[in-house]
Amino acid sequence: MQTYSTNTPLQAALADARKAGQTIAFVPTMGNLHEGHIDLVHKAHTLCDVVVVSIFVNPLQFGKGEDLSTYPRTLPADKAKLFEAGVDILYTPEVEEIYPEGMAVQTRVRVPELSETLCGSSRPGHFDGVTTVVSKLFNIVQPNAAVFGEKDFQQLSIIQKMVRDLCMPITIVGTPTARDEDGLAKSSRNCFLSAGQRDLAPLIHQTLVSTREAIACGFDNFLQLESHARMQLLQAGFDPDYYAIRDARTLRAVTQDTEEIAILVAARLGSTRLIDNVRLTLNPAEDWGMLAAH
Ligand code: PAJ
Repeated sequence: MQTYSTNTPLQAALADARKAGQTIAFVPTMGNLHEGHIDLVHKAHTLCDVVVVSIFVNPLQFGKGEDLSTYPRTLPADKAKLFEAGVDILYTPEVEEIYPEGMAVQTRVRVPELSETLCGSSRPGHFDGVTTVVSKLFNIVQPNAAVFGEKDFQQLSIIQKMVRDLCMPITIVGTPTARDEDGLAKSSRNCFLSAGQRDLAPLIHQTLVSTREAIACGFDNFLQLESHARMQLLQAGFDPDYYAIRDARTLRAVTQDTEEIAILVAARLGSTRLIDNVRLTLNPAEDWGMLAAH
């Protein structure tokens, strides 16, 4: 595994690969890698000849008072996992390499509307930081394909829209959420949970699954489903930021044209913010026809 922390040698290595006719798949991460990240690497291997992973804890996407300073940094363990997963190139830039002129004067990339709802309203500016750094990383690596997790479903939607809107010649591929056995979505932030909080945390996924079952059974009072779920989480000791049933394509309210529903949640357990989502494809002949009849 070749490892670079600066752009020039990284880009020289990638130029050589391209000259040899190889395609490049890219997996951007912030490190503290778990099986979810490694699933993305495996997916990347199926798409292209060369797999590039970046590890960069991007200060631009953390708000004031968020966990930038405590975000887990575990580079030696991450390197071992990536080596084992057969990654070809690891890119680990410092902040100065990505923002040489400082973050205040950095040109920003912003996806309106999609980046303002859900996590965007509880974390203002967060997605502008994500789209800005991902654009820079895309320009540095110039991959043919890039792989993102469905765990961060809104982030995946925003990246797909950015690539479409800016005509970036990159195929964006989503990968299913990796979970612990009890359903908790794997996350770098799970290590902040106390033993008691860790026992409670799978309720997030259980609640999502019950909402999905209720919708699949024809229950179409979404406001009631959302407030019931929020109440359940509150009573169990979570502090929910949002619990929302949306059109999976637009992340707007569900309409008669909705083909797939996403149920998305963000909730705090103590100071740890957890997010998760599940989706439900509507069969217009059956489910939605039945729902729409109510
Ligand atoms: P990070 O949280 O490290 O996640 C890197 C990638 O791993 C993202 O695409 C995320 O959706 C995916 N991922 C995380 N947990 C997952 C899980 N349980 N199952 C499947 N995929 C999972 O997301 C970021 O970093 C940053 O915002 C980044 C895109 C790197 C920009 O800084």
